Amino acid sequence: MKITSAEFVKSAFERAHWVTDGRPEIAFLGRSNVGKSSLINSLLLRKGLARTSNTPGRTQSINFFLINEKLYFADLPGYGYARVSKSTRSDWGQMARQYLEEREELALCVQLIDSRHPPMALDLQLNEWLEHNYKPRIVVATKADKLSNNELSKTMSVITKAIPEAKVLAYSAPTGRGREELWAAILAAVDKS
Ligand code: GTP
Ligand code: MG
Repeated sequence: MKITSAEFVKSAFERAHWVTDGRPEIAFLGRSNVGKSSLINSLLLRKGLARTSNTPGRTQSINFFLINEKLYFADLPGYGYARVSKSTRSDWGQMARQYLEEREELALCVQLIDSRHPPMALDLQLNEWLEHNYKPRIVVATKADKLSNNELSKTMSVITKAIPEAKVLAYSAPTGRGREELWAAILAAVDKS
């Protein structure tokens, strides 16, 4: 897809701050540090639009990006980071659950899983919740450039076995691997919504 415009719109710390103009929205979900913000930048070919960092647990708000005046990306806070306080963790749960339950504009959930590790309990829990609630979704195995082809194909089969209902694709932000396929899935979901 040709990106004619991509802009950061706002960070929302509560429901009242979500964008309200009804455009279809793609949500990016996954544990802290899995590569959500990097994946967004790579999809949009804009370095530094979504803030990335080596400090997990950085993004604590839902960050909205408007693309081609047509759709939104929502960068959700990462889960599962043990070193944030308990109350911050339960805020995550509440904010994300409310978002996933109530967001009518949600056209697709992109669930990110680190290709270097088997899915964590929280990844599987989120996946079950999405499945149970009939949320359209795709699973993306991130940081594929860090694995050999052999390791990557092992990981892909582990993830596919753990999450048989979803389409799974390998992604690398620095090389752009998976980018075209993910855009195709996003645009198909937007067309359906
Ligand atoms: P939070 O906002 O804290 O939840 O993290 P996040 O999921 O947005 O992760 P982020 O994009 O900030 O990336 C975390 C770290 O992983 C950064 O150091 C990135 O450079 C690195 N990273 C992300 N994606 C890739 C990838 O595809 N390949 C490689 N090699 N590194 C990546
Ligand atoms: Mg982030």
